Amino acid sequence: MARVFVTRPLAGTAVEQLRAAGHDVVVHPGPLPPTRPELAAGVADAEGLLCLLTERVDAELLDGAPRLRAIANYAVGSDNIDAAAAAARGIAVGVTPDVLTDATADLAMALLLTAARRLPEAARAVREGRWGTFEPQGWLGLELRGARLAIVGYGRIGRAVGERAAAFGMELLPVGRGDDLRAALARADAVTLHCPLTAQTRHLIDAAALAAMRPGAILVNTARGGVIDQAALVAALRAGRLTAALDVTDPEPPPPGDPLLTAANVFLVPHIGSATHAARERMADLAAANLIAALAGAPMPHPA
Ligand code: DGY
Repeated sequence: MARVFVTRPLAGTAVEQLRAAGHDVVVHPGPLPPTRPELAAGVADAEGLLCLLTERVDAELLDGAPRLRAIANYAVGSDNIDAAAAAARGIAVGVTPDVLTDATADLAMALLLTAARRLPEAARAVREGRWGTFEPQGWLGLELRGARLAIVGYGRIGRAVGERAAAFGMELLPVGRGDDLRAALARADAVTLHCPLTAQTRHLIDAAALAAMRPGAILVNTARGGVIDQAALVAALRAGRLTAALDVTDPEPPPPGDPLLTAANVFLVPHIGSATHAARERMADLAAANLIAALAGAPMPHPA
């Protein structure tokens, strides 16, 4: 039996599965992440940690968790975990791939359509009594058929977005590692980001990349906020050069007064890419399977 700390109540049956495997599970209660001292206390005598992308798991935290053997991140990304620090301590790290691919790709398309057809502005006009009549020149947006979509990061989720966009008749411009990002940005009517956040991709979409985008282009981000230089994006939005539809920001949530919250031409949702019942339940299953395997001394089925 191992002590396991779970940093939030989860959808699905991860906790039941861990308990059925004989583990002693403590769940941090409530909708908010544990504070840093609460997290440190939770892992102090734990052998397993089931955490979310909101928890920063770094060398300092791991130094205070001498018994920790396994970390299951409830996410496909693992940029919140210092992989080198975990490896140096022999701690296995697992993630939840595949099960959220469709949910995230669906949201990327929803954001693309939202921006392309100017849905937030149009809906606001109706609510505010500004629907005077059918306007032959009103609310004109981008038609997806024939438009070019740059897909930055052509892994599982990027390809799933590509499948959907192709069904809408879009021309795909996949951008993988080593491909010419600027050339794709200069050709694209819309850009969607699907790369992991790493030292190489932090601020990949910087002021120069934003300047390379076509005037009026749409930027969709369901990956990680840190892939975009947000100050540069705010400047581009203020200049009226681009439209953005973002599921992720840096930090999350943007603090009150953050200029992103009031910038023109930006539509924000609160990191809901994987927020379907099916995806979140299956993420819980994968996280539980990772912990149960590692705590039994076996390899994790879904290592980071
Ligand atoms: C992930 O899995 O990395 C998402 O951002 C949250 O589900």
